[in-house]
Amino acid sequence: MREILSMKNLSVHFPVKGGLPFVKRGVIQAVSDVSLTIMHGETFGIVGESGCGKTTLANAMIGMVKPTAGEVLFNGMNLNELSREDFKKTRRQMQMIFQDPFSSLNPRFNVYQIVSEPMFIRGEDDEETMIDRVVELLELVGLSAEDLYRYPSDFSGGQRQRLGIARSISLNPSFLVCDEPVSALDVSIHAQILNLLVKIQDQMKLTYVFISHNLADVKNICDSMAVMYLGKIMESGNSDAIFKRPLHPYTQALLAAVLDTTFDEKREQIILQGDIPSPINPPAGCRFWQRCPKAMKGCKTIPPEHLEVEEGHSVACHLVNGFPDVPLPDRFDAPMEGATK
Ligand SMILES: Nc1ncnc2c1ncn2[C@@H]1O[C@H](COP(=O)(O)OP(=O)(O)O)[C@@H](O)[C@H]1O
Ligand SMILES: [Mg+2]
Repeated sequence: MREILSMKNLSVHFPVKGGLPFVKRGVIQAVSDVSLTIMHGETFGIVGESGCGKTTLANAMIGMVKPTAGEVLFNGMNLNELSREDFKKTRRQMQMIFQDPFSSLNPRFNVYQIVSEPMFIRGEDDEETMIDRVVELLELVGLSAEDLYRYPSDFSGGQRQRLGIARSISLNPSFLVCDEPVSALDVSIHAQILNLLVKIQDQMKLTYVFISHNLADVKNICDSMAVMYLGKIMESGNSDAIFKRPLHPYTQALLAAVLDTTFDEKREQIILQGDIPSPINPPAGCRFWQRCPKAMKGCKTIPPEHLEVEEGHSVACHLVNGFPDVPLPDRFDAPMEGATK
């Protein structure tokens, strides 16, 4: 398998605006030191609670947010070093489907205008060609030629999301980021849209990044995944391996919160206390330590390294990897002393 996108030590920080004179302005560390690799044709899941940096990470992947540090390589090309022209060309291969099908479509455009706009911007001006293509796309997503001159307000949430999908694939992209594509939809529509995404991926040989806070969906459709917390990846790798043996206490907590019937084995129940700390002053050591039921003394000050613990499965946790100056305990079976409070 070839690699399509990789990130190396990528960080995105936003300045905190406003404030009073003499008050030090802070930065929001939305994404911190993230490295990952996505292969051609796979579905790569990103999970984590709201505010943990998923959308910012996705925007950095497609070059819509400039990284503060680190780099993004798409088919081997560094996005931030491309000329304007090359970036535009590359960007057409990378598209995004948004969470909210209500606000992501222009209410004053009809279906034809919405779906054909990317082609129009690219320079297509033959109306007949565009109508044919739009009808083809509408049929692919389960709508029809009769819908051509309707407006977004004529459609239900699920249908609008179908429209958003048709628009995003109109330029034949190879890389599609789906940012919580079903979170805003009724549960009954949920599976239909997921099935549609899987069908389109098969037909068009697309690579997906699938962002979600629903672990059951990630389990169903993702080949690989990364679990994020406060801007950092806590655990990543092959999703079967992670669901079979989640190693990070945060992943374990997320899994415990999912209905048991979705997963084969009964798991230890971990209920997280407290809220996510602010990304303005994230904890110095492990970002999760304040909420971690298994935190040890060193977790507060020593940031854990992201290490591969079995093939295709990495985790950033002292409980699993040991502290740098402490001999490694048997990685899976012997929790370090003082681990459980
Ligand atoms: N353009 C921006 N300017 C300032 N802060 C931002 C911006 N975009 C996101 N953030 C902040 O970065 C953090 C991560 O946000 P986001 O990537 O949207 O998380 P998620 O998609 O996981 O909910 C949040 O604290 C959010 O408030
Ligand atoms: Mg988001």
